[in-house]
Amino acid sequence: MTEKKLLPQHVAVIMDGNGRWAQKNKVSRLSGHNAGMLAMKEIIKKADIMGIKYLTVYAFSTENWKRSAEEVGGIFGLLVKYVASELAELNENNVKVSVLGDWRAVPGAAADSIEKALKTTANNDGLRFNIALNYGSRQEITRAVRKISSLVSEGCMMPDEISEETISRFLYTGEENEYIPDPDLIIRTSGEERISNFLLWQCAYSELAFTDSLWPDFTPDEFESIVEEYTGRSRRFGGR
Ligand code: IPE
Ligand code: IPE
Ligand code: MG
Repeated sequence: MTEKKLLPQHVAVIMDGNGRWAQKNKVSRLSGHNAGMLAMKEIIKKADIMGIKYLTVYAFSTENWKRSAEEVGGIFGLLVKYVASELAELNENNVKVSVLGDWRAVPGAAADSIEKALKTTANNDGLRFNIALNYGSRQEITRAVRKISSLVSEGCMMPDEISEETISRFLYTGEENEYIPDPDLIIRTSGEERISNFLLWQCAYSELAFTDSLWPDFTPDEFESIVEEYTGRSRRFGGR
């Protein structure tokens, strides 16, 4: 068991490889996403048991709309199913759900499920479980620039008052979600070694970990061993 003080406070996960898992197992892509959902459930439990405070998962990017209507619809259908079957347990476990991204623009039933999950868990103070949904980092930064520009044009802020903190404040991880700290560790599964428009501002000093496991095959044990490996890294933040 890892010493609490060495643990990452915030772990973010790029859950990739559902499609390849489906192909490997000769099932539909949607079955792959369903298997991915089951893997996610186990990782949430594990993160909670380990005492990690923030877990963020990348569930749907602003670029994922390029996929077929069938796949996109299927993914949001799974989200509705997931909330219906898991919300009570998440709430019992004191998990607080947040969503990063333009979630109001997702299909109605999914947006309704999200709203319910946010409301139900709003006062919980256990694990902070953040779902990046219809999330893209460039969209997030563009949106922040617009908000700041409005303040400036209304005369509420001077251009030279804009600091790094101002930008952080208007990101999804800022004020509107009670300031989620930058991720200490970002894990990506499926062997791809890229960020794919995820938390570009927030990952400035994140540690990165890549594994070949396809997301549905990713286990709580592997999660724990990656976190364990992270605790041995030397983070310098530009210092010596
Ligand atoms: C990740 O798995 C889930 C989403 C992006 C929604 P993919 O569906 O990207 O799986 P691969 O990359 O095609 O294997
Ligand atoms: C990143 O995976 C997005 C999610 C995991 C939700 P993608 O499969 O969309 O990323 P690319 O296209 O391989 O970069
Ligand atoms: Mg992928």
